[in-house]
Amino acid sequence: MVQAESKRPRVLSGMRPTGKLHLGNLVGALQNWVKLQDKYDSFHFVADWHMLTTEYANTSELQLNIQEMVTDWLAVGLDPGKATFFVQSRLLEHAELYLIFGMVTPLGWLERVPTYKEQLDNLQGRDLHTYGFLGYPVLQAADILIYKAGYVPVGEDQVPHVELTREIARRFNQFYGEIFPEPQSLLTPSPRLRGTDGRKMSKSYDNAIFISDRPDVVDKKVRGMMTDPARKRRHDPGDPEKCPVFDHHKIFSAADVIERVDRECRTAEIGCVECKKMMAQKLNEYLAPIQQRRSVYERDPQKVWDVLDAGTAKARRVVQETMNEVRTATKLA
Ligand code: TRP
Ligand code: SF4
Repeated sequence: MVQAESKRPRVLSGMRPTGKLHLGNLVGALQNWVKLQDKYDSFHFVADWHMLTTEYANTSELQLNIQEMVTDWLAVGLDPGKATFFVQSRLLEHAELYLIFGMVTPLGWLERVPTYKEQLDNLQGRDLHTYGFLGYPVLQAADILIYKAGYVPVGEDQVPHVELTREIARRFNQFYGEIFPEPQSLLTPSPRLRGTDGRKMSKSYDNAIFISDRPDVVDKKVRGMMTDPARKRRHDPGDPEKCPVFDHHKIFSAADVIERVDRECRTAEIGCVECKKMMAQKLNEYLAPIQQRRSVYERDPQKVWDVLDAGTAKARRVVQETMNEVRTATKLA
């Protein structure tokens, strides 16, 4: 029986529009979102304002990146019949709540967020000493609380942001009454999946395999993949745990193949060329139906925008209701 929508607990999660998504995004977030859409009242959005906090000087591809990312969402099986998909910047209520939260959020809370100092140090080539970048988690709190979401599916790195969201909810509620429930992180247990060069898979490292990569591209990327550096020659034994190819086997290959590679790599019975071929084939088999679905939206991108239009309209009803409550509680109306 289909449960009434309002009876299901609500989950909400956003993703910055980076364009075409890679396998790290797939196993780190999307596969989990697909599972959640059957049990929860799921809301997922394109965090385009969040993108501007770091990419404000470089917005020329933004609309195309939104389209490509949401095309991948739909390709992997996220279903507009089950979940709601929308664009953050089309709902000005997010900005309104962000502004109000800005009034009650102490600066010290923001300076203490671990991602803040980390990114300030790590992101090269842009000046992040901006008001907007410091306020990133306040906007995220508004995104979450405006839907009164119970759960926020996120990776490890985002847990401090959800914790801060809870603190902002508590502080707001102390001043203005019990409006916002405190959301919980729904930690995505994601297996390790390193990129072709052995570092974390990331678009900016140019080491990613994309969901939309055709079989010949996958084959080529896998052939060039780093392996256990200790396996220089065919007869050198290897340690599969040190090899990004094995990360992929563990996700895309059957149990008997994983077991065989794990054993025969250590004894040098299997060579890297064969091992990679087996992995690339499984990966291509996995991606085939996804790319099949993707092609429908590639041929007619308007379908993607239609999904976002419908989802945004649905989200709008929720945010308007919350903001009416907020304006009343704060005596702004
Ligand atoms: N900060 C998140 C990320 O970088 C994206 C995001 C924005 C988000 N708003 C959110 C995630 C609200 C969950 C809930 O991945
Ligand atoms: Fe990696 Fe496979 Fe080579 Fe072992 S045999 S090092 S798991 S590619």
